[in-house]
Parts: sequence; structure tokens; C-alpha cells
Amino acid sequence: MQLFLDTADIGEIRDGARLGVISGVTTNPSLASAAGIGDREAYQSAVREIAELVNGPISVEVVSTDTQGMVDEGRDIANWIPDPWVKIPSTIEGIEAIAALAGEGIKVNQTLCFSVNQAILGSQAGATVVSPFIGRLDDIGQDGIGLIRDIAELFRSAQVSTRVMAASVRHPLHCVKAAQAGAHIATVPYKTLLQMAQHPLTDSGLARFLADWQKASKT
Ligand code: E4P
Repeated sequence: MQLFLDTADIGEIRDGARLGVISGVTTNPSLASAAGIGDREAYQSAVREIAELVNGPISVEVVSTDTQGMVDEGRDIANWIPDPWVKIPSTIEGIEAIAALAGEGIKVNQTLCFSVNQAILGSQAGATVVSPFIGRLDDIGQDGIGLIRDIAELFRSAQVSTRVMAASVRHPLHCVKAAQAGAHIATVPYKTLLQMAQHPLTDSGLARFLADWQKASKT
């Protein structure tokens, strides 16, 4: 399972990219706003900066809700950077926009996916990747990982080329479960990426090794 960073924070992306495990970045209007990006021009320049740091697809979300507006924004975003994935929401207007953009060869990340039916529509429209939101489903007592599994199994058995990106990842267990459920990609917050490396036995084991080494070098 590939790992993408789910943030628009340049500092986090710079630090995350250095680890050598990141294959792409996803952004959305909330993440952009949290990173102090207030308008489209600033979003474009931040996305260009991100593309300098990460050699891989960068997802950039539209803010229009009508089909033509999404298509126009998508066409524009497609020219910002070398490997853009235009994020389009899983509404019926969004499905039509996905079909239009995919028909022009523009890669689309179908976002805000909360059902197998939405994923079927997006894949038929030609989405490159579909993003089921795990955490937000868990928040309302539904099974986010179950949705990843259902979509991944369906796409595999039907040989659908649309990939499954686990989104709205909130903690390291989501990463494990998403990988086991068959997600091709998980997009994770920087904090979660760091937590993936943490284990108390690694820390105590390292402390013990170093203490023993000190002891030996004193004798
Ligand atoms: C992914 O593409 C989304 O931007 C993101 O994962 C949403 O996560 P959240 O539900 O924690 O806001």
C-alpha cells in the first residue's frame, strides 16, 4: 500500500518527504485553509511548492458544486503541476464532471466517497482513484474499513482499474486495517505517519542496547 501525505502544510510535507516513504500528497479546502491558504492564487502557488518537494501525484480539490464549474476548475488545475489529480466530490454533478475530465485524459480523485454505489459510479465515469473516508464513517457509527474492503474486493473481482485510496485516516490502526482490506493507497496526516514508526518496545530496546554498550565500553 502506497502512502500519501494528507496535508497542505509545506513544513510537514518537507519533513515527510525526507523520510523517503511518501508517494504523493492530498489536499482539500479545509487543509488549505488550515495552512493559511486563503484564495485560489495562494492555493496554486502552494500546490506548485508541494510539487517541487514530492515527486508524485498531488490531489487538488475543486470548490464549485455544479458540473461545468468543476470541469472548468479541473481543466485549470490540470495545468498547475506535472502530476495533478483533480479532486471531485461524489455528487451526481461530480460524477458527470469526472466523466468529462477523465474523457480529456485528466486524472481524477473521486473524493467524499461514503458508499459502494458512489464508488461504482466514479469508476464507471473514469476516476483514477476513489477516496472512501474511513474516519468520518466511524464517527457516525458506520464501518469505514468495511467500506474500503467492499470496494477493493469488488474492483479486484471485476478487474476495475480505479484504485482505492483510504482517506480520513485518523490513527495508525486505520493504516494497518486499510492495507489488510486491500487499499492501494492510504493518505495519512503527518502526525499519523510519525505514529506508524512508534513502538514502546523499540524505544526501551534501543535504550537497553545503548546502556549495555556504555557499560561494556567502561569495563
Ligand atoms: C482526503 O483526501 C481528505 O482530504 C481527508 O482524508 C479528509 O480527512 P478528515 O475526515 O480527517 O478531514
